[in-house]
Amino acid sequence: MEEISPGLENVYIKYTELTYIDGNNGIMRYRGYDINELAQKSSFEKVSYLMLFGKFPDEAELKAFKSSINKNLALPDYLKDILRSLPEKSDSLGILQTLLSAKASEEGNYKYDRENDIVKIPEILGNVLSMVANIYRLKSGNNIIDPEPGDSYAETFLKACFGSTDKDSIKSMDSALILYMDHEIPASTTAALVTASTLSDMYSSLAAAIAALRGPLHGGAAEGAYRQFLEIGSPENVNEWFKNNILSGNKRLVGFGHRVYRTYDPRLKTFKKYADILSKTEEQKNILEIARKLEEAGVNAFGKKGIYTNTDFYSGIVFNAMGFPVDMFTTLFGLSRISGILAHITEYVETQERLIRPRAIYRGEKERKYPE
Ligand SMILES: CC(C)(COP(=O)(O)OP(=O)(O)OC[C@H]1O[C@@H](n2cnc3c(N)ncnc32)[C@H](O)[C@@H]1OP(=O)(O)O)[C@@H](O)C(=O)NCCC(=O)NCCS
Repeated sequence: MEEISPGLENVYIKYTELTYIDGNNGIMRYRGYDINELAQKSSFEKVSYLMLFGKFPDEAELKAFKSSINKNLALPDYLKDILRSLPEKSDSLGILQTLLSAKASEEGNYKYDRENDIVKIPEILGNVLSMVANIYRLKSGNNIIDPEPGDSYAETFLKACFGSTDKDSIKSMDSALILYMDHEIPASTTAALVTASTLSDMYSSLAAAIAALRGPLHGGAAEGAYRQFLEIGSPENVNEWFKNNILSGNKRLVGFGHRVYRTYDPRLKTFKKYADILSKTEEQKNILEIARKLEEAGVNAFGKKGIYTNTDFYSGIVFNAMGFPVDMFTTLFGLSRISGILAHITEYVETQERLIRPRAIYRGEKERKYPE
């Protein structure tokens, strides 16, 4: 008797050498390296290279990789026209999906292979940086620009968004880009894999991933967690809010619980550190204090069930303290995830090559006569 696996739960569709997760012990590693150590000591460019090509770049490789990214920061005019023509109310992640699809229209029959990838992937990383920076600029009433290369991907991005930035913000952004880069194969990466398995081009696979990320069951938790803090308003209101909304069973605590982790999400440690460093204004400190009190209440109530704080609980605080509004959080997550998705699709297409084509069990009418 055939059976389905709802939500593809416990179905394995690929081997990977990219991300290792031990949900019971709160461990996460990229190619064997501890995630928090990478976030502290490395850079987005080096970790992207590691994920994509299996080793850290040497000096010459890093220089070439960065230079290819920087050569691709200027968006083609037709993408700028699309950006300007979308309705004002368009959400930032929806705009990113549209721009990636538009870029896919240029691609024709893309061929995956290592020689092509080394050229193509930094081009995509440069393009996507510019897309996201310009989405932010447009939504905050600024003009569209061709970003100027800075010393790092994080610096180029922040300067493109805000005109200027500072050392702490650059380090926090760099760490966020690394921490959110990959998480095995959640719905968005799986959507990209299904698309890439048909040998469709990389931009189409990324557009499919972003389409999946848009749904509230996947992306959006950082935004949801932060909106919770805003709703609570003050640390004194936490306990009552928690009792009325969460303990009463009316709502789930956003930024808590995870399908894989039964303990604290390991990425949390670094996000907490930067939330602390970057929160400088009274308003930011107030939000951080609300978060801390709410986390304590959540762990007290749910820790014994294996439900702990996940990374999205604090990442929004970090993004907001850098200067980003709440409706950019999921798009920043999307920006960070691009190189992880590219690493997964190239790993899949170049080594496993099987068209992903599951089956459905038919349970409708067996045979019917067309009504005359
Ligand atoms: C992420 C999430 C969907 C994972 O859920 P899951 O593995 O499918 O677990 P379930 O939905 O089956 O929940 C298991 C139990 O934990 C409880 N639970 C899980 N997350 C909870 C939360 N955030 N707040 C309160 N209770 C929670 C459920 O009510 C359920 O309790 P029960 O067994 O008494 O009915 C879930 O934890 C959640 O909705 N979290 C809030 C949203 C969020 O932060 N998402 C970001 C994920 S990275």
